[in-house]
Amino acid sequence: MQEDSSRDSRPADGFTYNHPEIHVEQRSCISAPLRAAMFDIPREAWAGNPKFRGEAQFWTQIHEGLLNASATLPAWLRQFQDMDDAGQMRALSPRIAGLGGDLVHHAHGHHHIEDHHFFPAFLRLFPQLEHPLEMLDGDHKVLAEVLDDLEAAVRNFPISPEGNDKAMLEAWLKGAERLLPAAERLDALFIRHIGDEEEICIPAMLQL
Ligand SMILES: [Fe+2]
Ligand SMILES: [Fe+2]
Repeated sequence: MQEDSSRDSRPADGFTYNHPEIHVEQRSCISAPLRAAMFDIPREAWAGNPKFRGEAQFWTQIHEGLLNASATLPAWLRQFQDMDDAGQMRALSPRIAGLGGDLVHHAHGHHHIEDHHFFPAFLRLFPQLEHPLEMLDGDHKVLAEVLDDLEAAVRNFPISPEGNDKAMLEAWLKGAERLLPAAERLDALFIRHIGDEEEICIPAMLQL
């Protein structure tokens, strides 16, 4: 049987994750058919809702921490690449490796809780959110690959390379050159995924 080559270009109303309006690396917003299934409470109104305090607020604070870390890592790496002093680089390199490792660890833990507890609970309570939640689940699968790539780049990043200052500088810059695109990719995907995840889930949490 011939494989259906149009599978990935099906419009978003027949749900397919690998569609440009859905995939986390291609979409620029939540598509209209998905948004139609969501609760319509604008972000500006969340904090004033008494139901926001507690779990919803805590969840957004966790997201804020992840986004801060994912923005800080590439910023530190760019600073690192501009340094020409081995002493400064020796001070910053363990902080870069530590931040990268913590970020991967926290992101995996956070996604695990969402995949196994939050999303199934939301789906039970609000079956109309099936496709928006399916999109978030697909995002997590892409993010898992991006986190694996980041983890490998962090492992490859030398904290205290061997040799004279010139050899150390070369080793650090090589490590940073590999780590920076992985860190930038995660940051861009986190901004898209976390922003959309909150717009899908927080208004639903405010119904409870
Ligand atoms: Fe998520
Ligand atoms: Fe999340």
